Amino acid sequence: MKIGFFDSGLGGLVALKAVARALPDYDYEFYGDTANLPYGDKSEEEIFELTKAGIVHLFSRDCLLVIIACNTASAETLRRLQDGFLKDKYPDHRVLGVIIPTLEELVTLGLKHALLVATTRTIASGKYERELAKLTDAPLITARATPELVPLIELGEAEAALGSLIATIKGVGEVDGVILGCTHYSVLKDKLRAGFPTLCFISQDEIIPNKLADYLERHPEIKSQLSRESTRNVFLTDNSSRYDQVIRELLGGAFIEQ
Ligand code: DGL
Repeated sequence: MKIGFFDSGLGGLVALKAVARALPDYDYEFYGDTANLPYGDKSEEEIFELTKAGIVHLFSRDCLLVIIACNTASAETLRRLQDGFLKDKYPDHRVLGVIIPTLEELVTLGLKHALLVATTRTIASGKYERELAKLTDAPLITARATPELVPLIELGEAEAALGSLIATIKGVGEVDGVILGCTHYSVLKDKLRAGFPTLCFISQDEIIPNKLADYLERHPEIKSQLSRESTRNVFLTDNSSRYDQVIRELLGGAFIEQ
């Protein structure tokens, strides 16, 4: 069986690329809901239904374990999916999110005050702050919604997105780190680090590979069922040819299923 990745668009391919590089033998299926992007300003109910549909698709493609790479979907649906839907319908399958691993990294790094940038819906959910409070009293999180970034990045206009994010960071003042709390923002990390050399940028593509490897070590009952033929498959709900180049750049010559 395979490892699935769910995202609202193409941004999650950055995380998949990092995971597939670290754990190359496994078989990976990616589901990008490009027909419904962006999720960041949708209602909780809409996000739940769309995410559930993507996960059912990934399960039907023989995925045993699905990583919800999308922060917005992780924030709004993960608990509900795990507690209700999975227990009732797919008790042997697993769905993991990206927010708690990101917060664990924040705590490990010992940051005192981090800026969280994410979609409107992720920020409004308060999920980062709630989960952090379960781990520790510190650090402090200042949250800023940056809804303009995803559409720009999906269209390949990374420079415009970078300019906007730089202005947000400068506007916040004293922080020692920035959580890139959206799959798409990882593509900006190198330029951000060059522009703000004293700030620590937390980018999920750098966290998820180790967290997944660790999860598989702790769950041999899952690991032992995973096939290892190094296949990668990308499914997009809107499979427009304008995405081909982005997919090629991120994953090489991945097969694109209609
Ligand atoms: N992939 C989503 C996330 O990580 C953002 C994109 C969207 O708004 O759909 O939050």
